[in-house]
Amino acid sequence: MIPTLRTERLVLRAPDADDFAAYAAFFADGEASHFYGGPLREDQAWRVLALDLGHWRLRGYGRWAIARRDTGEVIGGCGLWWPEGWPRSELTWWLLPSARGTGYATEASRAAIAFGYDSLGWDLVQTHMDDANRGARRLTERLGGTVIARERFPDGKERDVFALPRS
Ligand SMILES: CC(C)(COP(=O)(O)OP(=O)(O)OC[C@H]1O[C@@H](n2cnc3c(N)ncnc32)[C@H](O)[C@@H]1OP(=O)(O)O)[C@@H](O)C(=O)NCCC(=O)NCCS
Repeated sequence: MIPTLRTERLVLRAPDADDFAAYAAFFADGEASHFYGGPLREDQAWRVLALDLGHWRLRGYGRWAIARRDTGEVIGGCGLWWPEGWPRSELTWWLLPSARGTGYATEASRAAIAFGYDSLGWDLVQTHMDDANRGARRLTERLGGTVIARERFPDGKERDVFALPRS
């Protein structure tokens, strides 16, 4: 059962088949999805949607689809993520370019962080990102994230690891 979270402007809900168009649009845009391995073909984007759903089933948490409360439009994804073989969990997000610069990612993140601490009972909600991902870093700093480690990940890249406070 994937819970639904509501914030002032957003609904974070289970991804479903109708969200495929938003996934396909995000991953077709190589610049927008660069740090998620984009550009991806439509069939590859569909697999990401399937992975997002499967992660919830396998872990009990995962990435929600983010929809605007006023229009119902899906504008991105956000959630807690920890695939097998990766050393740390992470808060993760993506927004369609048209939805950036609005505070939506910040708003969705606060709900996801609270879910991690309050509903999952985690001691630490954390994230990490590529050094070149300035948008993700700025968002993390806006959320009050502080660097707690710098380490090498299984893909060979070194990244800062941030603790995220409960706001
Ligand atoms: C990471 C990502 C989600 C951040 O998106 P974002 O639009 O910068 O974040 P927000 O939606 O919180 O918007 C914040 C911006 O909106 C502005 N803003 C406008 N209205 C606002 C409001 N009501 N509340 C808060 N901020 C608001 C803020 O000032 C801020 O602008 P700034 O970055 O110029 O300081 C986005 O860059 C993205 O999708 N990247 C691609 C995917 C990716 O790389 N993910 C991370 C992998 S590790």
